[in-house]
Amino acid sequence: MSEITLPTKAPGLDNVAVIGCGVIGRSWATVFARAGAKVRVYDARSDAAATVPDKVFDAVEALGYGEETAREVAHRISPVQSLEEALDGAGYAQESVAEDVALKRRLYEEMDKVAPASCILASSCSSIPPAEFLGGLAGERRALIAHPFNPPHLIPLVELVPAPRTADAILDDAGALIRAVGMVPVNVRKPFPGFIGNRLQAAVINEAMHLVAEGVASPEDIDVTLSIGLGRRWALMGPFETMDLNADQGIAEYMNKFGGAYAAMGKELCVTGGWSDEAIGKVISARRNNVAVEDLGARRSWRDRALAMLNSLIEKEVTRS
Ligand SMILES: NC(=O)c1ccc[n+]([C@@H]2O[C@H](COP(=O)([O-])OP(=O)(O)OC[C@H]3O[C@@H](n4cnc5c(N)ncnc54)[C@H](O)[C@@H]3O)[C@@H](O)[C@H]2O)c1
Repeated sequence: MSEITLPTKAPGLDNVAVIGCGVIGRSWATVFARAGAKVRVYDARSDAAATVPDKVFDAVEALGYGEETAREVAHRISPVQSLEEALDGAGYAQESVAEDVALKRRLYEEMDKVAPASCILASSCSSIPPAEFLGGLAGERRALIAHPFNPPHLIPLVELVPAPRTADAILDDAGALIRAVGMVPVNVRKPFPGFIGNRLQAAVINEAMHLVAEGVASPEDIDVTLSIGLGRRWALMGPFETMDLNADQGIAEYMNKFGGAYAAMGKELCVTGGWSDEAIGKVISARRNNVAVEDLGARRSWRDRALAMLNSLIEKEVTRS
């Protein structure tokens, strides 16, 4: 793959702290370092922080950036031994520790005490309502959820969810920073469980399990329907734009023509019924027949390479349009 130009250094991104260096934290480190920030990484397990620069080097090189660029990006990352060191002089902190409300609450009390007053405190939290760990914090106004999708360095969407007293200016600044690192923020106006993305995903997965339970299609054919069919369009546009383009006179005509059919299908969908044991068994056995557990790592690498190529094609097309 050819050398790719890095984004120019983003304003306000001089020093970023990444707290928690598991699957999500180390991918965030890649995002910020690629954007030119100096990134301090801290984890309660010092070995997890220590290995981040090497893992970022591997991730960047695997995406085709070339050895020199990968080294330059990884070089911007410094593992540190304490929360205080990580937050010293930071303008933005991205926390990615385990999804545990008591752990996050304790950590935010601490982060709020030691972070500079101007530092935005953002959590990768995917399911806990922000009020439960940010509500009542002395610095609640500068705290929010910035929820990514895995892996953040390849899926450029971030859901911003305010705590009850997050300042509007902080939401704006967090949005600007997310854009500056090459990602796209969306605002979740009410803290509904699952926010936007995971709710939509839950509706699709629950209905997919229902189709398997009813014997309508095999798990393989349902995956193909999404990846080769719906997903091809969804990589470019959401359901509303899809409807707008699927009728000569746009979405109003589409809704008029097909609203009744969607209402009828809606009555037959099963997004609330839970997964049957039989459907669970069929889906697991289909996946394991397709890829052995020990080969999942190789398949993830393939996914990441393919996502990088797709991102680059879509970016070129967006620039052209
Ligand atoms: N994995 C995903 O697909 C995904 C996607 C989006 C958001 N998230 C969210 O991101 C967060 C992290 O998820 P993950 O999958 O990376 O978890 P993970 O278990 O891979 O990593 C968590 C890391 O936090 C560290 N840690 C625990 N307590 C700590 C503390 N007090 N201080 C510093 N480090 C500490 C752990 O040692 C570990 O390395 C969660 O809130 C999760 O809901 C995960």
